This record gives sequence, C-alpha cells and structure tokens, in this order.
Amino acid sequence: MADDPPKKKRRPFWRKRVRRSTAAGEHRPVLLAEIVAALAPKPGRAVADCTLGFAGHAAELLKLVSPDGLLIATDLDPANLEPARVKLEAVGGLFALHHANFAGLPHVLAAEGVSGVDGLVADLGLSSMQVDDRGRGFSYMRDGPLDMRMDPTRGRTAADLLNTLPAGELAAAFRDLGDEPQADAVAAAVVAGRGASPLERTGELRELIEQAAPVTLDRTPTALSERKQRLAPVARVFQALRILVNRELANLQQLLRVLPDILNPGGTAAVISFHSGEDRLVKAAFRDGLRAGVYEAVSPEAVRPAFEERTANPRSRSAKLRWCRKKS
Ligand SMILES: C[S@@+](CC[C@H](N)C(=O)[O-])C[C@H]1O[C@@H](n2cnc3c(N)ncnc32)[C@H](O)[C@@H]1O
Repeated sequence: MADDPPKKKRRPFWRKRVRRSTAAGEHRPVLLAEIVAALAPKPGRAVADCTLGFAGHAAELLKLVSPDGLLIATDLDPANLEPARVKLEAVGGLFALHHANFAGLPHVLAAEGVSGVDGLVADLGLSSMQVDDRGRGFSYMRDGPLDMRMDPTRGRTAADLLNTLPAGELAAAFRDLGDEPQADAVAAAVVAGRGASPLERTGELRELIEQAAPVTLDRTPTALSERKQRLAPVARVFQALRILVNRELANLQQLLRVLPDILNPGGTAAVISFHSGEDRLVKAAFRDGLRAGVYEAVSPEAVRPAFEERTANPRSRSAKLRWCRKKS
C-alpha cells in the first residue's frame, strides 16, 4: 500500500504572502477632480488640507493657489509630514505643515497668522500607507501589534482599550461604530480572552472574532464572495476599534463646529467620509448651517466616485463627498 502523501501544514494567515500594498508613488487621492471642482482654488488664495496623508489632494491644491497663495496642512500622524514635505517642495509655492489634530485647526491658523481660508478639504480615515504598515496594527490582513493610533505619540492603544474597557462599552463600540450585529458575543469573547492573557496582536483579535461571530453564508448569485462574507465581522470590529482609539467622531464633530469660523466669506469646505456615522454628522452639520444662514449653499447629494475610479481604486468605493459654501 502506498504511503499517504505528507499532509501540508496549514500556515496561519499572517505567514501567507499578502499581495496588496501601496508604494508612495502609486498613491491615488480619492475624488480629486470633484474636490477641485467644489473648491475651485484660485492663485493667491489660502487653503487648508486637514488630512495631509501623502499630500495627494494637497499637492493639487498647492499648484492651483500658487505662486502667491498658501496651503496649510495638518496630520495626526507625524510620519506623514516628511514624505509630504518632499512631495510639496517638488510642486513649489508656499506651504506650512503641522503635526496637529484638525479639531484644533483654529490654533494652527492662528499660529500661521491666518484669519481664515478660502478652501478646506478633509479626507477622513486612514491613508493606505498606514493600513499597509503592519507595525501600526490597523489591518486584519497582517499580524501586528494592536496599536491603531494615528498619532503614535499619544493616547491609548487598541490593546489598552480591549484589555481594560468593560464588556458593555466594547459591545456598544462594536455595534455603534462598526454596525456589528454580534457585538455582544464579540465583546464577551474579548473579555474571556483577556482573562487568560492580555490581547496583544491583530492576529489574535482576528481569530477571536472569527470564532465569536460565525457567518451564515449567503449563496445567492449577487452575494459577496465567500471570503468577503467570512471577513465581514472582522472588518466591522477592526473599523469600530480604530474609530474608538482615535476618537474620530468627536474630532469630526469639533471640526464641523469650528468650520464657520475658519472659512472666509464665500469659502468652501469639502469633506470625504468613508463611514455612515461620519457622513451623517457631515450631512446634518451642513444642513443645519444652511438653515441658519451660515452657509449659502451645500451639496444637494453626496458625490460618489465615478465607475472608473471605483474600478481603479477599490478603496474609493465607500467614499462620499459633501461640500458647504460659507455665506459671502
Ligand atoms: C485618507 S488619508 C488622507 C490622504 C490624503 N488626502 C492624500 O491624498 O494623500 C487621512 C489622513 O488624515 C489623517 N487624520 C485622520 N484624522 C485626523 C485628525 N483628526 N487630524 C489630523 N489628521 C487626521 C490620517 O493620519 C491620514 O494621514
């Protein structure tokens, strides 16, 4: 009788080769043409990019306000500033970069001696470079430390929150920030897991979610791929944690609150969001500002990426852009 062929040992998912990664040169700013159309930046104007990232939007805005206009940009992640500076220096023109939270934009403008801007862009969430860096712990596709802070110089890490928050608070976050239907079960599994030993790695968290939130596969012809369906609870819980760690909704609310003071009369702000909770906040703030006469116009609908962009850049698929124009 022939011997059984040797059994292949299954490698954990993070040892498998992951193909997707973003080199800085491949960076594609989301909804760039639509942002330029909304802001219509002119030479000599002052503009702010409060989510600098790899300066995709910022470089285009700087080109359009140059030679005598000014770009002021902020990012929570200090690692983004130097590569962005190199990119913007190649464009030329006047710009100032700040390692700062956009919630504090009025202080940044004051430090630059600027009383207001004619255009502002906020492209919320993470840059693809942050997601692809396993050391940051944002991705469930690569094992890494459970950090998830956009600003690694301050604040509590994902591990810290997972290992200390009560089950009820974790469940509320998974439900409210990630729309996870099995939030209670995942939170209970986190609490049970950390009782054995503190959670430290994204790989551990992923496995724990997969066990706690089983998926009933939809096999209808229009359903998502089996892989996507199986990963959906993991994606939702990771998103919720990231939003929680970085206080993303509170920061956005503060930006929306100070926006009327930051914009010059007739100035336009454009916000790109990737999460329904964010988009709801933006829509409500712009609508309320319009009703109160603070804004003279707002986008009637969310602007979505065209088919070509969605195909070329899958990360753009959930993007929604809304703009508001301050009363002249
Ligand atoms: C989607 S990326 C921006 C990409 C950029 N528009 C480009 O074209 O390269 C979002 C960036 O915003 C930063 N960010 C997120 N929340 C922030 C906040 N509250 N204040 C400042 N920067 C923030 C992130 O660190 C990240 O670099």
